[in-house]
Amino acid sequence: MVDPGKEPDRKAFLSTVPLFSGAPERALEVAASVVRPRSFEDGSVLFREGEVGDALYLLAGGLVKLSKVDLGGHEKTLALLQPPEFFGEMALLGHATRSATALALSKVQTLMLFRDDFERLLTAYPTVNLNLTTTLANRLRGMDDEAQVLSYKDAPGRVAYVLLRLYRSGVVELDGSQAVVRLTHQDLANLAGTSRETVTRALKALEQEGVIETRPKEVTILDADGLEEVLHGIR
Ligand code: CMP
Repeated sequence: MVDPGKEPDRKAFLSTVPLFSGAPERALEVAASVVRPRSFEDGSVLFREGEVGDALYLLAGGLVKLSKVDLGGHEKTLALLQPPEFFGEMALLGHATRSATALALSKVQTLMLFRDDFERLLTAYPTVNLNLTTTLANRLRGMDDEAQVLSYKDAPGRVAYVLLRLYRSGVVELDGSQAVVRLTHQDLANLAGTSRETVTRALKALEQEGVIETRPKEVTILDADGLEEVLHGIR
């Protein structure tokens, strides 16, 4: 894991964060000189939905969950993030409040980039600005896809979608050629926007298809292409 507290590591880490992808050396130097390292214990809240925010976070170590409470009072997980992703930029754009809660799912290390410095970097370096816009566009595309899946797919299709998303974003542990998702049925339900009971039934159906294997708090993806076929209703 990168130690963002150590100055020499900082620029190398920043160059891997999508916000600074392809950015000039000078932009990385400026960013490295203004970010502030901050660590969080497992289970601690980095910020809550509705709070005023004055910094974005560059994730250097650990796993972070972004979630919202929906109108029915249920938690909806928006994303599970791992290094070198960044988050918390929306509250800095247009002075809005935090759109979601960020929770540390392990010990977490971050670099914080405060509003004034963020704005200075966006103004001075078009690459950083374009990277931000690209991230927001990708997120919008992802939300459009998810809205389609959640509206039109049955429970196995929804759960297949969630497992594929975790698989593609790398939030899995690789065990040889297999990918292991270490989440509870409730965690998966919060991602799929459905109930725990529905997820349990859907996982059984996917297991019978031979595309996954389940153990307590663990789902092994045996056949990602097969999951894709379930998602598209051709299996
Ligand atoms: P902000 O609103 O400051 O705080 C919550 C953060 O969650 C937000 O900035 C984004 O960085 C991130 N976020 C909000 N919605 C989504 C989403 N649908 N997918 C991934 N990340 C999100």
